[in-house]
Amino acid sequence: MAFLKLLAFFLFVIVAIEASSSYEKKMGAMMESFDLLAGFDYSDKVVINVGDYGAKGDGKDDSEAFEKAWKVACSSSKPVTYMVPNYKYLLKPLTFSGPCKSNVSVMIEGLIDASSDLSDWDGKNRRHWLLFDEINDLEVGGGGTINGNGKTWWDNSCKINKSLPCRDAPTAITFSKCKNLKVNDLNIRNSQQIHVSFERCSKVQVSRISISAPEKSPNTDGIHVTGTQDIDISNCVIETGDDCISIVSGSQGVKAMNITCGPGHGISVGSLGAHKSEAHVSDVLVDTANFSGTSNGVRIKTWQGGSGYAKNIIFQNINMKNVRNPIIIDQDYCDSKKPCHEQKSAVEVSNILYKNIKGTSASEIAVNFECSKSVPCHDIVLENINLVREGGGAAKSSCKNVKWTRKGDQVFPVPCDIDIMDY
Ligand SMILES: *[C@@H]1O[C@H](CO)[C@@H](O)[C@H](O)[C@H]1NC(C)=O
Ligand SMILES: *[C@@H]1O[C@H](CO)[C@@H](O)[C@H](O)[C@H]1NC(C)=O
Ligand SMILES: *[C@@H]1O[C@H](CO)[C@@H](O)[C@H](O)[C@H]1NC(C)=O
Ligand SMILES: *[C@@H]1O[C@H](CO)[C@@H](O)[C@H](O)[C@H]1NC(C)=O
Repeated sequence: MAFLKLLAFFLFVIVAIEASSSYEKKMGAMMESFDLLAGFDYSDKVVINVGDYGAKGDGKDDSEAFEKAWKVACSSSKPVTYMVPNYKYLLKPLTFSGPCKSNVSVMIEGLIDASSDLSDWDGKNRRHWLLFDEINDLEVGGGGTINGNGKTWWDNSCKINKSLPCRDAPTAITFSKCKNLKVNDLNIRNSQQIHVSFERCSKVQVSRISISAPEKSPNTDGIHVTGTQDIDISNCVIETGDDCISIVSGSQGVKAMNITCGPGHGISVGSLGAHKSEAHVSDVLVDTANFSGTSNGVRIKTWQGGSGYAKNIIFQNINMKNVRNPIIIDQDYCDSKKPCHEQKSAVEVSNILYKNIKGTSASEIAVNFECSKSVPCHDIVLENINLVREGGGAAKSSCKNVKWTRKGDQVFPVPCDIDIMDY
């Protein structure tokens, strides 16, 4: 019996293979005749391999080869894969400029290290290491690793060494003015400053990015979003010395889903309104996130003296573990060497929903609304909140100039006492 079954199985497999190969043959013939008729091209994507342009992948500087290969890839009239195979490369600051003739997909399978020699930035923009500029329909992925080698920059930061002047430090990867962008499957480590920044981009998908830098590394935000519309960030694990995700002015339609954050400063809208600037952020959804050991959970931070708004923001389905300020609006944000004084104007914060947020607070105040006297926060809604102190005990809330309501009775810590609400 068993033998017959086995025989039948082999026969089945043989028939299946025959069928599929004759199908392929037929399809191939069909494609060829189409080609002849219409001049279409069904051949595979062009592959531009940095190795063919002189990249040795031996851990020494390969910038020139990457640049040469990029020029060829970007001017290809067919969709092209820019391939970085699984070796170890070192790059100085480098710009991948667009627009490109056709769609480009950058596959990074290897390890790319940043030069740790600060003088490589002499005469160059200190804000960038790898810059993708004005490229539409770009895809970047491949599962490889990008290492900013930031230690020298951190040691030279004015936040670490107070006797040094504050100067710019590079963002490891910047996407500027890119439309229809996909960034997937990358590991980004030890950036000089921000790890990945999206600046004036639109229609962006970011997924399965893992970011890590030491807790004490200065200004090493994970993902920074500025002036960008329609961006979906999902399935990311972020451990840094600053915000896991920061969303600043000009951003609209920002979704962050399934995010693990910690250590770090949490997920922030802001800071907004620095140097009396006008800021606009709206339609932000943070859904499904874990914060562990972070200084903040979900935060909105604005400077005094700014104008504009932060509105229509939802934070939901969130776990907090030992987070210092799990829920915080800080309209007195001041991250400068000089103290900030009270001012008449502020970025208006309104229409904010906090829903299904639970876990533990490292400090007594788990919900902190510190809003502007001149422009109070309004339409702030809390629904199904359960935050207690790490190690046990009830947490508290604190409110200044905030008009807020709760939905349902599951809101702990209990709402701020109306008496201390000087609204
Ligand atoms: C280029 O990418 C866009 C999506 O960003 C896609 O709609 C389009 O079909 C692609 N074009 C080619 C020729 O592959
Ligand atoms: C801080 O910077 C000063 C000035 O460059 C330098 O002399 C000093 O050694 C630095 N301190 C540390 C701890 O690196
Ligand atoms: C959430 O993200 C993690 C880390 O990237 C991933 O392993 C997991 O599969 C994601 N969950 C869902 C439901 O996509
Ligand atoms: C968050 O933690 C919980 C409990 O540890 C786990 O079940 C869930 O998958 C985690 N979610 C994310 C987004 O990391």
